[in-house]
Amino acid sequence: MKKILFVSSEAHPLIKTGGLADVSGSLPKALNELSQSIHLLLPNYQGLQLTEPVYHRCMIYVDNCEIHILETKLPNSHVTVWLVDYPPFFNFPGNPYSDEHGNPWPNNLERFTLFCKVATEIAMDRSHLEWKPDIVHCNDWQTALVPALLSLENNRPATVFTIHNLAYQGLFPAEKYATLNLPKQLWHPDGLEFYGMLSLIKGGLVYADHITTVSPSYALEIQTPEFGYGLEGLLHYKQDMLSGIINGIDTDIWNPETDKHIPQHYNSDNLSDKKANKIALQKRLFLPIDKDIPIFGLISRLVEQKGIDLVLECLPQMLALPIQFVLLGSGDHDFEHRLHNLTLLYPDKISVSLGYDESLAHLIEAGVDIFMMPSRFEPCGLNQLYSQRYGTIPIVRKTGGLADTIEDALPESLANNTATGIAFHDANADSLIEAIKRSLILFHDKSHWKKLQRNCMKKDLSWRNSAAQYLSLYEEL
Ligand code: ADP
Ligand code: GLC
Repeated sequence: MKKILFVSSEAHPLIKTGGLADVSGSLPKALNELSQSIHLLLPNYQGLQLTEPVYHRCMIYVDNCEIHILETKLPNSHVTVWLVDYPPFFNFPGNPYSDEHGNPWPNNLERFTLFCKVATEIAMDRSHLEWKPDIVHCNDWQTALVPALLSLENNRPATVFTIHNLAYQGLFPAEKYATLNLPKQLWHPDGLEFYGMLSLIKGGLVYADHITTVSPSYALEIQTPEFGYGLEGLLHYKQDMLSGIINGIDTDIWNPETDKHIPQHYNSDNLSDKKANKIALQKRLFLPIDKDIPIFGLISRLVEQKGIDLVLECLPQMLALPIQFVLLGSGDHDFEHRLHNLTLLYPDKISVSLGYDESLAHLIEAGVDIFMMPSRFEPCGLNQLYSQRYGTIPIVRKTGGLADTIEDALPESLANNTATGIAFHDANADSLIEAIKRSLILFHDKSHWKKLQRNCMKKDLSWRNSAAQYLSLYEEL
């Protein structure tokens, strides 16, 4: 049995801003079910949705700060969660990275540096928890100093660093380095320095024993200038210790047969029951009730990565067709504003919900027919996986994890029952419109559509395979 310390800045259902939380809430559960001893480490944010009892485990000093380690369980699991409690840094309303108005915390560098130092103390069993991991698995820049700090220790656990999104690197002014009480040995161009900046993500990329990304295609893409943000050389140099493992999903939470957020449960044998969810969605969003009209859905952070500009460009043409479109998301204020304006022009065809709403996200997955993910890049993407489980056909751009998880509906893939969606190549509005038109032709061909839905719903999207791949990686290390 391996002992694994899984370090993350968010985990569903305790706290979530995006897919990192879905993975950090479900991969540890899957590893636990493979009989591994796994502890999840998170900051004790004020916004944590704690439902299980919380105990005080120990107190340690790091950089003269009095830190308490609290213990709880990840809801609906046997995974132990340790919380790094330091109220001056974490006891504020807002999300892990920004305040209630969306402004990044001005001391993010100090907050996550402290978090990483505490993780290192726990990893070296210097925190009175009497548990020393074999593996420390870190995720994204917020945790990337841990492999760097551990590289300086003797008799240390092995380290894995997972890139969920290379676009976020934790870049800070170089002058800050001297204020952080970090070892001088880490400050050089082959270490944490990056063109005159402090790059936290380099802590993971340079010093981890193994780097993973969340899909095999993204593992190759980030070795090229288009997706590498100047880190492609380093990643290419490290290619022998870099691999892609596709994300799984929590099949208990995303299950159309038991989902507590949808009014009508269904499975691939009674697909006509899915329509009741469509009607419930139309009612909830004040769209005209029509069980036969194709509805397109999109749930996303409203940022450039997700191809929201392409959607905005296509919408006038799309809305001239007999369809409805529902969107749930938040982010860039310009995108929010432009989307809102479209709802004023086409109130009977489009609904835009700005904000974060988990229950609506489930109802959209169950209620719509077609789900749009025209991302410019996508390390893995989870909604195309949730969509497949709900018999909702994804339109995706062929990039990263979207390319790895969706088989384009072409005559051959339809004939051999491997088709699972509509995929297009070029990041432009014409290609997206063409994909939308293809999806409508398929939608109106009832037998092909049902086939596509069944192909999607019968896929094993659980963590079973991918958790086993992480486990064999841990064993190798
Ligand atoms: P990313 O992590 O890049 O945002 P993913 O596809 O990996 O993209 O994961 C996004 C997750 O966040 C999904 O679970 C999605 O349903 C959820 N999500 C995104 N925006 C919202 C929102 N406004 N309301 C509810 N859930 C959302
Ligand atoms: C990131 C990526 C997304 C991925 C998620 C979980 O946020 O943008 O593609 O699915 O992490 O790994």
